[in-house]
Amino acid sequence: MSLKESSNRDGFTSKFGILAAAAGSAIGLGNIWRFPYVVGESGGGAFLLVYLSFVLLLGIPVMLSEFVIGRKSKRNTFGAFKKIAPGTLWPVIGVMGIVAAFVILAFYSTIAGWTLHYVYLSITNGFQGRDTAELTLMFEMFQTSTVLPVIWQLIFISLTAVIILSGVKKGIEKYSKILMPFLLLLLIALSVRSVTLPGSLDGLVFLFKPDFSKLSSSVILGALGQAFFSLSIGMGALITYSSYFPAKTNLSNTAFEVSIADVIIAILAGIAIFPAMFSLGMQPEMGGAGLIFMVLPNVFLQIPGGYIVSIAFFILLAIAALTSSISIMEVVVAFLVEEFNMVRRHATAITAIAAATVGLFCTLSWGALENVTLGGRNIFDVLDFTASNVLLPLGGLLIVIFVGWYMKFTEVKDEMSNQGALMLKFLGLFRFLVRFIAPVAIAIIFLNAIGILRV
Ligand code: PHE
Repeated sequence: MSLKESSNRDGFTSKFGILAAAAGSAIGLGNIWRFPYVVGESGGGAFLLVYLSFVLLLGIPVMLSEFVIGRKSKRNTFGAFKKIAPGTLWPVIGVMGIVAAFVILAFYSTIAGWTLHYVYLSITNGFQGRDTAELTLMFEMFQTSTVLPVIWQLIFISLTAVIILSGVKKGIEKYSKILMPFLLLLLIALSVRSVTLPGSLDGLVFLFKPDFSKLSSSVILGALGQAFFSLSIGMGALITYSSYFPAKTNLSNTAFEVSIADVIIAILAGIAIFPAMFSLGMQPEMGGAGLIFMVLPNVFLQIPGGYIVSIAFFILLAIAALTSSISIMEVVVAFLVEEFNMVRRHATAITAIAAATVGLFCTLSWGALENVTLGGRNIFDVLDFTASNVLLPLGGLLIVIFVGWYMKFTEVKDEMSNQGALMLKFLGLFRFLVRFIAPVAIAIIFLNAIGILRV
């Protein structure tokens, strides 16, 4: 794209396209890969309840705040704060977001690469005739190897870059629109199979029956991080996307619908995983980052037409990952294009190469670099923890303070109501949440987790 074109900003077109793009960003590996394994490690039902409350009370207000900032400024996440709050320090939020985007892209592409490998395994009938122990071993051997996971990761980053290069309308919107409903259907089918396996009831109990003794300050921070990661909030991915929204988009409805869709997909993934896990005699905290790759092939082997179902599932999961990773890469690319007048092609190439470089270290975290650890965490976990549990919530905290306290209330209201065209039923509630509940809650969870405050 030339400079002239890039000043003529690209945008989304239809209402469904906007919803699909925002939902496409939110729905991804966060719901289907990360949610089940974090729930498993965090003790099940109580975590789920805390996570759901965070989505409703903190997540939706942060998402709506990002929409307000993005559409009002029509800029990338750094430029947005520079435009609305010129001459202040607020653009630091944008810098943090760009760092977070970068880190997330690096480790996200590791898992997306695993997904591509599982597409390949499905097609070549790689699960056939293997029992649970063999399937687990097969995953672990792949995870700890050096060459193959890196190749898949590079393929995934390249795919992301190619879509980013084809521009917003043609790229993001087209791919998001058609495919997500299929993923939903497949997850429903897998859930049905999972809950009808022998001994699966315990899995449902684990997922839905809260045991509050499992909650600790770090589990609560984990629920906050999961909510932010899964909703794509706290780093300006949705500031960037909403900068392409037209004036008539209903921001509140979009935030609400995207968040609900995101939660539904996560819970469905939980229902597809835990009952099957218990039925196989596996412990919920056991899987770690490999959980779905170890459990789901067992389910595919017990499903009529499992061969086709597993191919379709991993392809759709890879596509869901792509519609998320393009929203992550777009944060950095839009920043480079708009702030440094870079050509889109160059910005994309630089971002992809840099992310692949950091990503390499993430991918080798279980194999060649398994001994490089910090506080018992490998490189992958350190980067995931830093981005999801620190940078995103911190970004979210600053974003709600910005919208709740820095911006004039009339400005916020005008943007949310499309300059008065829409009736806003929940304006008072939104204002209360962004000014008081969200900042105080996020701050307490942080202070509590680092041990400064004990509640
Ligand atoms: N929400 C995406 C997912 O669940 C990941 C993501 C995180 C995307 C942060 C953008 C920003 O897979």
